[in-house]
Amino acid sequence: MSVALIILAAGKGTRMNSDLPKVLHPIAGAPMLHHAMATGTVLDPAHVVVVAGFGADLVTASTNAFDPTARVVLQKEQLGTGHATAQAKDALKGFDGLAIVLFGDTPFLRPETLEAIAATTADVTVLGFEAADPGRYGRLVMEADQLARIVEFKDASEAERAITLCNSGVVAAPAPLMFDLIDALDNDNAQGEYYLTDLPRLARARDLSVTVVQCDEAETLGINSRAELAAADAQFQRSARIQMMEDGVTMMAPDSVYLSLDTIIGRDALIEPNVVFGPGVTVESGATIRAFSHLEGCHVSQGVIIGPYARLRPGTELAEDVRVGNFVEIKNATLAAGAKVNHLSYIGDASIGEASNIGAGTITCNYDGVMKHRTEIGARAFIGSNTMLVAPVSVGDEAMTGSGSVITSDVDAGALALARAPQVEKPGMARKLFEMLKAKKARQSRGS
Ligand code: UD1
Ligand code: MG
Repeated sequence: MSVALIILAAGKGTRMNSDLPKVLHPIAGAPMLHHAMATGTVLDPAHVVVVAGFGADLVTASTNAFDPTARVVLQKEQLGTGHATAQAKDALKGFDGLAIVLFGDTPFLRPETLEAIAATTADVTVLGFEAADPGRYGRLVMEADQLARIVEFKDASEAERAITLCNSGVVAAPAPLMFDLIDALDNDNAQGEYYLTDLPRLARARDLSVTVVQCDEAETLGINSRAELAAADAQFQRSARIQMMEDGVTMMAPDSVYLSLDTIIGRDALIEPNVVFGPGVTVESGATIRAFSHLEGCHVSQGVIIGPYARLRPGTELAEDVRVGNFVEIKNATLAAGAKVNHLSYIGDASIGEASNIGAGTITCNYDGVMKHRTEIGARAFIGSNTMLVAPVSVGDEAMTGSGSVITSDVDAGALALARAPQVEKPGMARKLFEMLKAKKARQSRGS
């Protein structure tokens, strides 16, 4: 059956104390909303509808960044989860597959759990969990194998509050049925809201079947505060590292490695302590990322060694066996196989050919204060230490630059470019200067 996901993301998240909508706060380098959308991809949904409210423009931009085909609908006033879901009705007009409601602030749902929900034969399916501390969750009231109703904590009797089987918030039903039931909702309850959780009771009144799929409590964890956000990130990091190690990545000190939702690291790669993987990083098999390196938006090929203390910024593409050493920053640059930038350099908006060697302290001067310009270096070139490459500029294959050169015009293949003041030597001058300076100091200390 084809699936539509409805992701509720209209709430402000007051306890975040933030101008940013709650669902856009990041866990592992990606907004919580993207975690929910990423889990949803397992069902290959025909439609994804995000219900936005607070900060809708930002939520729309973020939704489209993940999936340009996703629709965003507006819930002007937050009148409850049922009312929020109703906003997706027009976007799903004519769709008669399964509609599944997810929360944008619940990032840990497993794809397998979504598959189990999609696989039931019941008319309405609710995802529940056994809560260690049921707190303020909605309670699932069972009658035999059917879910009779969900009662919200604020509306529950003492006996109902004693129930430990709780509502995660995820509800699934064929879209026409879901919107039909939602039309029948009222807000006659403790919070004066249209509760999505009234759907099971309405379905049972029509003699429809309502089933519960259960998951682990950790999967339904919702984020409400910055402290919970940090705890959720820590939980993500723990499980992502374990998964990577199971996939064959060596981590010398896993607790000190920070991963993003989309980090890809190949088998037999070695990750030293204190490495940060920002969004958009792919590291291929057998590469080594040495300690204290920071990577984002880059591709690192087999056999490459990075760091220690290297920074790879977006648009960095490193071919096989490249070396990037300590205190080197690379941005929007392509390094061909075997190229080396080993010490204290900045390489930005550049391409460097095969097996070229970039000397210590080299800088591509890519910014003129207004615009960015490119530096092109050919294959097997040798850039002397402390060369300033003032872009736009190119250096041909097998060319050299002398140390300390400021290169402002193109260097032909095979040529040596020297662009620095010639050395001048004055015999005996140093000794003379020392004597003058020592005499001056002696006069000063006598107070004359
Ligand atoms: C909800 C459930 C409760 C369940 C709990 C699990 C209802 C009525 N209650 O309660 O049974 O145990 O989740 O965490 O559904 N939202 C909107 N628009 C609205 C209201 C909410 O988009 O008008 C969004 C929120 O941004 C949030 C989600 O829906 O992502 C859940 O809303 P929230 O207010 O947190 O519901 P709970 O009170 O936690
Ligand atoms: Mg909540």
